[in-house]
Amino acid sequence: MKGIILAGGNATRLRPLTKITSKQLLPVYNKPMIFYPIETLTKAGIEDILIIIAPDYAGQFLNLLGSGKEFGARFTYEIQEEPKGLADAFRIGENFIGKDNVALILGDNIFDFDFATVVSSFESGALNFVKKVKDPERYGVVEFDKDMKVISIEEKPRDPKSNYASVGFYVYDNKVVNIVKSLQPSARGELEINGNPSVNNTYLEKKELKVSIIEGAWHDAGTFDSLLEANNYWAMKARGNV
Ligand code: G1P
Repeated sequence: MKGIILAGGNATRLRPLTKITSKQLLPVYNKPMIFYPIETLTKAGIEDILIIIAPDYAGQFLNLLGSGKEFGARFTYEIQEEPKGLADAFRIGENFIGKDNVALILGDNIFDFDFATVVSSFESGALNFVKKVKDPERYGVVEFDKDMKVISIEEKPRDPKSNYASVGFYVYDNKVVNIVKSLQPSARGELEINGNPSVNNTYLEKKELKVSIIEGAWHDAGTFDSLLEANNYWAMKARGNV
């Protein structure tokens, strides 16, 4: 299994914090944000990692992260010239992925959850993870039945069909590379993971999409409030208070 961390984008929601650096380099308690997704992948046993970054602060990422040796990993870097959507990661990463399966983690998603078991038991298709939230309209929303069979996935719906958000960690078999090649951009002009059309909806049509509810904390640190919450969570954790 290969791993991709998507750390592109302009993070306009976090201006002026992101005027002189990238969102994924901002601090979350005692380390830069991107350390968390790196550690999520390495703990899950994924050591071959592609880091996709925006052109503006590419040098800062290289200075900070280097070859990956310090993390017990091997890093490859690619530049995403323009934010064209999350699924663009598989187009940019085609050569890196080769014939392998691949896990994608979003660079602003911070998990206190160990994916090792689910990653090592993955065989084929697509495996997504969900978590119950109070504000599902902020996220990709997954509707599923009592047997965890997925019924629908919608990106930031006004009228969410469930309270389960699609978290930013996705595991796919090698078919994802070809699926993205023939994927049309959505109405907002992006190659989507969760929208319509999207990678996940393609796997859903093939009946090859599975979801699993994660325990443990999860933060999408893309807004001021969620960034603060993530900082507070990891500070409390360091003191043994969560
Ligand atoms: C992205 C995805 C969304 C997902 C979320 C998780 O949204 O588009 O489906 O639920 O990440 O963090 P963004 O936070 O980039 O707006």
